[in-house]
Amino acid sequence: MSLKQRMPFLRWSVWRMARGTRNITTTGQIGDGREAAAVEYVLNHARAGDPDDVLAAFDRFAYHKAILINVGDEKGALLDAAVRRADPKLALELGTYCGYGALRIARAAPAAQVYSVELAEANAVNARRIWAHAGVADRVTCVVGTIGDGGRTLDTLANEHGFSTGTLDFVFLDHDKDAYLSDLQSILGRGWLHPGSIVVADNVKVPGAPRYREYMRQQQGKLWNTIEHKTHVEYQTLITDLVLESEYLGQS
Ligand SMILES: C[S@@+](CC[C@H](N)C(=O)[O-])C[C@H]1O[C@@H](n2cnc3c(N)ncnc32)[C@H](O)[C@@H]1O
Repeated sequence: MSLKQRMPFLRWSVWRMARGTRNITTTGQIGDGREAAAVEYVLNHARAGDPDDVLAAFDRFAYHKAILINVGDEKGALLDAAVRRADPKLALELGTYCGYGALRIARAAPAAQVYSVELAEANAVNARRIWAHAGVADRVTCVVGTIGDGGRTLDTLANEHGFSTGTLDFVFLDHDKDAYLSDLQSILGRGWLHPGSIVVADNVKVPGAPRYREYMRQQQGKLWNTIEHKTHVEYQTLITDLVLESEYLGQS
């Protein structure tokens, strides 16, 4: 790994990203066109129908051209392992971005239908192009909306995509860090999880989801069993992060 990869502050794209952090919560993008550039790069450099090559092209772009806020390769390996443990038929991601995380879930669970909820239409358009290129468009779907939009998106998942009691095997939380806990509680409220369902939460240390972490600590051995994975923020090794993997135990 090069010095620039280990030391993110030596990369201009990291400083541009720091300036664009405010954009992410409203537009879902950094604001300098890097997501569109990443998608074009992947479509031009990765073999069609090859999820491994598509993910590798994203990782190359993020290391060598402009950093991206995908879950990335290091935390992605933790995500893959959790998906394999859950062996899902139905999986849900919150926060699509360019489609990288959902593609990792689909690759690790070849029999799963994967849904990804994203607030920004532009990200949904990008992600669908990526999934079509990777050959998984028939089982990976982006729903534009948020879990906190008063029930509209939850109803869409239920009425149009078959989410119902006890059917949801795997959830990946990777969107608005302040919404992790309330969105998980909304999903719990619908009764979609079953004992053994697994929820993975990214960025619990950086930018941080303290209320979610505290909830999982309080529920340890009651509603949830949680493992805290120590890892690094995506695409560098200087800043540490936490990924939480929680198994739902069900109501006793
Ligand atoms: C860190 S990125 C997701 C990365 C993606 N999971 C991956 O690994 O490739 C966060 C994404 O969440 C979206 N987002 C932010 N708040 C959201 C919300 N409340 N509901 C759905 N998506 C949201 C942003 O637009 C952005 O695309």
